[in-house]
Amino acid sequence: MNLIFAPASPFARKVRVLILELGLQDSVRLQDPGPVTPVSNNPVLNAVNPLGMLPALELESGECLYDSPVICEYLNHVAAGPFFPTEPGPRFRALGLQALADGILDLSVALRYEAAMRPQELQWPTWVDHQNEKIERGLDALETRCSGFESSPLIGEITVACALGYRDFRFADSDWRERRPRLAQWFSQIMRRESLATTVPT
Ligand code: BEZ
Repeated sequence: MNLIFAPASPFARKVRVLILELGLQDSVRLQDPGPVTPVSNNPVLNAVNPLGMLPALELESGECLYDSPVICEYLNHVAAGPFFPTEPGPRFRALGLQALADGILDLSVALRYEAAMRPQELQWPTWVDHQNEKIERGLDALETRCSGFESSPLIGEITVACALGYRDFRFADSDWRERRPRLAQWFSQIMRRESLATTVPT
């Protein structure tokens, strides 16, 4: 298998963490296709994913899977891993937590592009404020829920760790740890996992 990824992408990091957790390092090649932005075309990526979005996983069959939840569930299936429960209760709790953390990531990446790429005169402060409010509410929900997080992480907990890591990477000046002591404590624990510690974006 071939994973098309970008080193700074938090969605690709989720997949890389799963690969390490599942021991699939020798089965998945990592390919950085070069610059990928919302306002340019990357021919390598566009050839396999019509949406031109990372990450994308090319299979031996020639099929290509995207986006990160689909890729992660596929890899978990291949390795018969524990990260996607099959029982409905635990499964939808895990998928729901993944969706919450992916939502924080979607909003954060959109804000990153707004700040880093959109010309200053086209930026829209009202939109920025609303996206930041959604992120803050999402982080508050994680603070409320983290006492119930699984001690053996599932896909939800892995995604939360990647979302908090992305906040530290790109939004260090608005520290999510303030007002969220339980989440901060949980994060420092889960970051001891080798899969997360060795994939911190720089
Ligand atoms: C970033 O540099 O923050 C980034 C890169 C790829 C995908 C998403 C975010």
